[in-house]
Amino acid sequence: MERNVVYSAVQPSGIPTIGNYIGSVRNWLALQEEYACYFAMANMHAITVRHDPALLRRRTLELCALYIACGIDPEKCTLYVQSQVPQHAELCWTLNSVAYVGEMERMTQFKDKSRKHEDNINMGLMDYPVLMAADILLYQTDLVPVGQDQTQHVEIARDIAIRFNNRYGETFRVPKTLVYKQGAKICSLQDPTKKMSKSDENPNACVFMTDDRDTIIRKFKRAVTDSGSEINFSEDKPGISNLLSIYCAFKNRTAEEAEREFEGMGYGDFKLCVGETVADALAPVQAEQTRILADKEYLSGVLARGAEQAFRAARKTLDKVYRKIGFYRGE
Ligand code: TRP
Repeated sequence: MERNVVYSAVQPSGIPTIGNYIGSVRNWLALQEEYACYFAMANMHAITVRHDPALLRRRTLELCALYIACGIDPEKCTLYVQSQVPQHAELCWTLNSVAYVGEMERMTQFKDKSRKHEDNINMGLMDYPVLMAADILLYQTDLVPVGQDQTQHVEIARDIAIRFNNRYGETFRVPKTLVYKQGAKICSLQDPTKKMSKSDENPNACVFMTDDRDTIIRKFKRAVTDSGSEINFSEDKPGISNLLSIYCAFKNRTAEEAEREFEGMGYGDFKLCVGETVADALAPVQAEQTRILADKEYLSGVLARGAEQAFRAARKTLDKVYRKIGFYRGE
């Protein structure tokens, strides 16, 4: 029987944080055992805000090496760079005629980014969700694992698929969102009511996957906590709850187990303990990422194979789309 298809991607902009790791990549590990997985470096999405070309190229490889270091196995899934598969842009263009301007203008992320980049509200920024729909629909995807902030985009991809199917006949499988349970949202260490973001202006707000041990521990020591002295999950303790979530994710503990472990401990020692836990967990991943990055031949081989596999699957869907929509394809 054909395996169900899982699709997800991360933009190679900035350095991934432990929030990205827990929130996405780590959840992919179990999925690759069971599904036909496509994981992409979404570099075409990354140019919708101002960027440095040399840095984008470097970050793309770093992200790929990080995926592999985290345990994503290129033998089990298709790991590729989005721009190497031209069907993404081609399907995006086709879907542009099915997506409405009004629905794009209403997207939360578009509104946020428009506010943040007032001087650069480009067409690509608005079209971002359509390109994402193209990513997903090209592979006849069943499941899209994403963090909470991307669920609206998957909804739009579903709407676009349904609309296209209704208009032109059954073409796309309609994907479902898979929102992770544990650690779906890791928050800023400086403002635990906000999601941890790699583009945060305050460098103490997030822990990058490449931070060294001292930096990690320093950031945790500076993490904001709440009033009171008890270490437990609680609505009115966003800071402590966030630190506990991070601890649970890295140590594979349940909430109750973690609360019991820290019973009677002061906030200072607790923060140090979480910092050390994260530093210990990241050390082997970082060493492996460095090793892989140095092996240029291996890395380019992985990406060439990934692009080829993705290309084959994407071409099949795009052929169908072009047939349905009435594009001349030679006789
Ligand atoms: N927009 C996603 C993010 O910023 C990345 C992404 C691009 C993606 N294409 C995708 C995620 C397709 C899931 C499916 O996190």
